[in-house]
Amino acid sequence: MSTSSREVAGKIPLQMVVIRPAKIFDISDVMRIERESFREAYPRGIFLLFLENNPDTFLVAEYAGRIIGYIMAYMRPDLEGHIMSIAVDPNYRGKGIGSALLTEAIERLIKRGARYVGLEVRTSNTRAIKLYERFGFRKVKRIMGYYSDGEDAYYMILPAEEWRGN
Ligand SMILES: CC(C)(COP(=O)(O)OP(=O)(O)OC[C@H]1O[C@@H](n2cnc3c(N)ncnc32)[C@H](O)[C@@H]1OP(=O)(O)O)[C@@H](O)C(=O)NCCC(=O)NCCS
Repeated sequence: MSTSSREVAGKIPLQMVVIRPAKIFDISDVMRIERESFREAYPRGIFLLFLENNPDTFLVAEYAGRIIGYIMAYMRPDLEGHIMSIAVDPNYRGKGIGSALLTEAIERLIKRGARYVGLEVRTSNTRAIKLYERFGFRKVKRIMGYYSDGEDAYYMILPAEEWRGN
């Protein structure tokens, strides 16, 4: 289902938003949100491969039959649960969808034995950084020139024992 970028969502009841594992038929919607959210977009093959390898931790947010956000997370061999990407349809931001996706991904990673959850974020992305800090993530490192346009990243982590679910 496609979303007009001019359409603006009003209030949406969070209890009607379903967070569920992504399926192959969601990938086009995920790619649409990705294109609207990031300067560089991954090719479809990356999403399909990620889905094949991480079916439990590639999640989408669905509201009234429409995909309005996604999160891609996976477990590293050293038991770091890693958030590779998170984005919410621009028309549905600021309504708790990103928080709901992040909560479900963190819970799934920690249940699977993650000792901590890590992610990289652009140093200019203050909104996302604020969101992560509210969840208890801390900046532990600045990675110079991490992004292809030369911008630095913060590497942030949330230790499992500090997650409120524990
Ligand atoms: C970062 C991102 C995923 C957050 O998603 P989101 O759905 O807007 O997140 P939330 O709504 O849960 O929280 C964001 C803000 O909305 C506020 N909010 C939460 N629920 C709300 C509600 N029901 N009504 C109004 N505001 C609400 C939060 O307090 C938070 O405020 P803040 O801006 O002061 O931090 C989203 O902004 C996005 O897709 N950005 C572009 C892609 C990106 O940068 N991804 C991160 C890469 S590392």
